[in-house]
Amino acid sequence: MRKIRIFAPATIANMGCGFDVIGFALDEVGDIIEFSVEEGDSLTITNSSDVPLPDDVEKNVMTPVIRKFLEMTGNKAQVCVDIIQNIYPGSGIGASAAASAAAAVGMNELFGKPLDEEQLVVCAMEGENLASGGYHADNAAPAVMGGIVLIRGYEPLDLVKIPIPDNFYCTVIHPHIVVPTKEARAILPKEIPMHDAIVQWGNVGGLVAGLFKGDIGLVGRAMKDVVAEPWRKKFIPGFDSLRGKLLTGAGVLAMNISGSGPSVFALSDSRQKAAAASEIMKSHFAGLGIGAEAYTAKISGRGAGVCVQ
Ligand code: HSE
Repeated sequence: MRKIRIFAPATIANMGCGFDVIGFALDEVGDIIEFSVEEGDSLTITNSSDVPLPDDVEKNVMTPVIRKFLEMTGNKAQVCVDIIQNIYPGSGIGASAAASAAAAVGMNELFGKPLDEEQLVVCAMEGENLASGGYHADNAAPAVMGGIVLIRGYEPLDLVKIPIPDNFYCTVIHPHIVVPTKEARAILPKEIPMHDAIVQWGNVGGLVAGLFKGDIGLVGRAMKDVVAEPWRKKFIPGFDSLRGKLLTGAGVLAMNISGSGPSVFALSDSRQKAAAASEIMKSHFAGLGIGAEAYTAKISGRGAGVCVQ
């Protein structure tokens, strides 16, 4: 029997304007999952974490990922998975992507690395499809590869790693509201007006240019979303007022919904501003009687990999 323990990071998708095309990995927060394989043809998943998850193996996002890996590599195995630590599903920081990335990378390690990073993202997207009803890679790609990743195209998949500016801090708050990704995607319009498209692609270009130039002012100006946020912000109480408080009170560069929510995140150019943002976020949700956890993390260059603990 071969056995391995994998860490896969939490991720933040969209970065404001880049709906389904850009995301980044956070350091420290993530899943820890153990995988073992031996001869046979079966899959079992046990949950040793304190996060409640469906018992049905068919409902676990790792199942289609593992099957895709075995299909792509022409292997058969008796696979046993044990979830040690898990991000809360529905929190908006890439819970399904972290588990999916862990499954893809874990299997790849156990079989001698037959797949490259891009193929691992293809496997991980199977889990995202099960969770949200769509093949999006803006959590899965940074969960597998680390750093900031642009999905230039899906057909075929074209992934671009983007440099991480120095002194770039991310404050995230997870208010205890449930917003399933499937629902947050279903409420979006199927078409957008030309005016909004022009604003959005200008911003995506500005965001990518700002990240390459290390121009964080440009990054902040570009992190504006006129496509998904207007529909989704109603799930997050006091969204506009929180953004106002963070921009003026903490001096953050931008605040946006993390993926499909309900978490929101703010980017800052100093640890002090990130800490101030955390206080403002906590008191915002406490004032509304909503429990929440906040944390500050740096963008991490490290994707899913063998656990070093
Ligand atoms: N891009 C996806 C969305 C991310 O916004 O629906 C889901 O976390």
